[in-house]
Amino acid sequence: MARIRIFDTPAALARVLASDIARVLATQPTLVLGLATGRTPIPLYRELVRQHLAGRADFSRATTFNLDEFLGVGAMDPRSYRAFMKKYLFDRVNLSPRRMHFLNGAAAPGRGVQRECERYERAIERAGGIDVQILGLGMNGHIGFNEPARALVARTHCTRLKPATRRANAPLFGNRIGAVPREALSMGMATILHAKRIVLLATGSTKARCVERMITGPVTPRLPASFLQLHRHVEIWLDRAAAARLGGPERTALHRG
Ligand code: F6R
Repeated sequence: MARIRIFDTPAALARVLASDIARVLATQPTLVLGLATGRTPIPLYRELVRQHLAGRADFSRATTFNLDEFLGVGAMDPRSYRAFMKKYLFDRVNLSPRRMHFLNGAAAPGRGVQRECERYERAIERAGGIDVQILGLGMNGHIGFNEPARALVARTHCTRLKPATRRANAPLFGNRIGAVPREALSMGMATILHAKRIVLLATGSTKARCVERMITGPVTPRLPASFLQLHRHVEIWLDRAAAARLGGPERTALHRG
């Protein structure tokens, strides 16, 4: 069963998780981190910057792999997830640019995209796999851009974004849903599930229903996050609002840790 941790606020969650990551970095400086973008991890990235500035988090030998990128959005585009990571974390800590890995959203459609996905899988493998994968949770249950479907894709692939996902990302594109790409590149479910440790973050009441289904519902491609139930070392970090629909047994699991 996943280990569930519930905090009073997103800020408290971010503080504890950032200290945890700083501690892991201290004992394992070559840590390979899988990273998510979106609203949820922003407080975590702010706290990691704070830990770094206070001399408690050294990223100089760490490696990162981001989960996903919009198709057709190049590396220098301010709307890219790469730009997001630079803004919130990478420009403010001592990670080596050589060890920051992103999917190239500017890959040529067709064969180019396929080659890009294969390249990413190989790069993860060469790095020795992902040690700690940070995930957010889509309101429809997606992780990375593995959207609800009849079947899921195991490895890094090109995926069609659901209208709800495009709506959620509209703020990055001037609030114009029509401007949000229809496709994205994303790690697949197996890529994610092969991480040694997975830390999923969910905050806010809008995620409560999805959190409940992810933890207590069946494992189904209709809710990709439910596949995390199959992993040996998953932690679900929530604020009270996102945990609101969890019943006694799940909360007890938290206390036993
Ligand atoms: C982003 C990603 C997505 C988000 C999810 C939640 O890299 O992989 O799965 O984590 O859409 O987004 P927020 O945190 O904005 O609610």
